[in-house]
Amino acid sequence: MARSATLFACSACGHESPRWHGRCPGCGEWNTLVEETRSSPPGRSPSRRSTRAVRPLPLADVEAPDVERLRTGIGELDRVLGGGLVPGSLVLVGGSPGIGKSTLTSGALGNLASGGRRVLYVSGEESAAQVRLRAERLGPAALRVPIVAETDLETVLATIEAERPEACVVDSVQVLYDPGLSGSPGSVGQVREVAGRLMRVAKERGVAILLVGHVTKEGAIAGPRVLEHLVDCVLSFEGERERTYRTLRALKNRFGSTNEVGVFEMHEQGLVEVADASARFVTEATRAPGSVVLCAMEGSRPLLVEVQALVAPSELVPPRRVANGVDRNRLSLVLAVLARHGGLALGGSDVFVSVAGGVRVDEPGADLAIALALASATKGVALGADSPVAAFGELGLTGELRHVAHADRRTAEAEKFGLRRIVHPDERTRTLREALRSLGPAASARAA
Ligand code: TYD
Ligand code: MG
Repeated sequence: MARSATLFACSACGHESPRWHGRCPGCGEWNTLVEETRSSPPGRSPSRRSTRAVRPLPLADVEAPDVERLRTGIGELDRVLGGGLVPGSLVLVGGSPGIGKSTLTSGALGNLASGGRRVLYVSGEESAAQVRLRAERLGPAALRVPIVAETDLETVLATIEAERPEACVVDSVQVLYDPGLSGSPGSVGQVREVAGRLMRVAKERGVAILLVGHVTKEGAIAGPRVLEHLVDCVLSFEGERERTYRTLRALKNRFGSTNEVGVFEMHEQGLVEVADASARFVTEATRAPGSVVLCAMEGSRPLLVEVQALVAPSELVPPRRVANGVDRNRLSLVLAVLARHGGLALGGSDVFVSVAGGVRVDEPGADLAIALALASATKGVALGADSPVAAFGELGLTGELRHVAHADRRTAEAEKFGLRRIVHPDERTRTLREALRSLGPAASARAA
């Protein structure tokens, strides 16, 4: 007989508790615990009839057959996956609504279908007709993909069993539901059950499953975070919907590195890979006051992006601090260090900092470029006369410049694209003040 158990699960991190808490003991988020009633709690093992010891094997004797990966034909996706989809793996593709998850996964299946692979697209969010409309934009390959529009987990599993695809997309984990569970689709219990059952069928049948999952800030829908421990790979598709560039990165990968990042651009005809992202961003750099090229690292790949700053007198107290593509707290830190150690106090100004193209840079190595862009914007003087100035380095709280990883690769990338002025921490440039001075009067007049 099925027992029912009531417990509370966090929709942000999946933490479970027998009691309700206002604040999740797992992740510290407020108001994320929701009640779940389970008729048969997953994870409860069936009564064990016999216990039998098994003989451990030395790792060297464990057979590890070389599996052939399924290449999706989307180079950036294959690279982030570590060389293509591994048969029998479950890959979670997370991202905010409208970022292009369905477009990316449809394109991948289309290419696989064109290469003669058996594929299946399970759409729970959109009707088959809607998916067809998208596929028409993506081209003839995408139109070859067989589709089922279904939200019942049992039906989806039965269909996968019957069709035996080599690669399957389930779009999305939040709309599938198991009628045997009480929670509504998208609740922690449902999302876990859906992912767990898909994982099992992936492993048993050798199907590579791409599971789409929405990420929402509110936590009203259980986010992909609650599934991270379960799936083989977590890919995160990021960017701003209104902007053209999108980045795909692996947050977890059991079959490859988590350092790779793919860059895409959303076009009329779907997502286009941007293999030479640095070239693109450098060409677009404006060379105007407030513009500096940042030599960033996107995983193991150096990427040149333009950081722009605007400083304007403010009517507001406190003045505006707007950061796009960089962390707001890092901007605050850079502003404080500039005021204290760079002679540049912007307490009475609105400050806007943005990474051009909608790319997000989350690394301390961006500090120096932000600081230089702000200095240049404040003075209203462009830093590089003929070619843009490139920079990278972390700012310490005492105004010192700190080394960041892969300095040689960052410099090499900048040189490759013809940037001759590269400011970074070295023997001659050890502090922010020295960095500003090295750029001449444009940046340093006030910092002297
Ligand atoms: P979609 O893949 O549906 O996003 P998600 O599945 O992550 O919610 O597509 C997102 C947006 O991309 C949508 O607003 C329309 C736009 N788009 C294009 O600009 N060009 C295209 O060729 C396609 C298919 C979509
Ligand atoms: Mg979608």
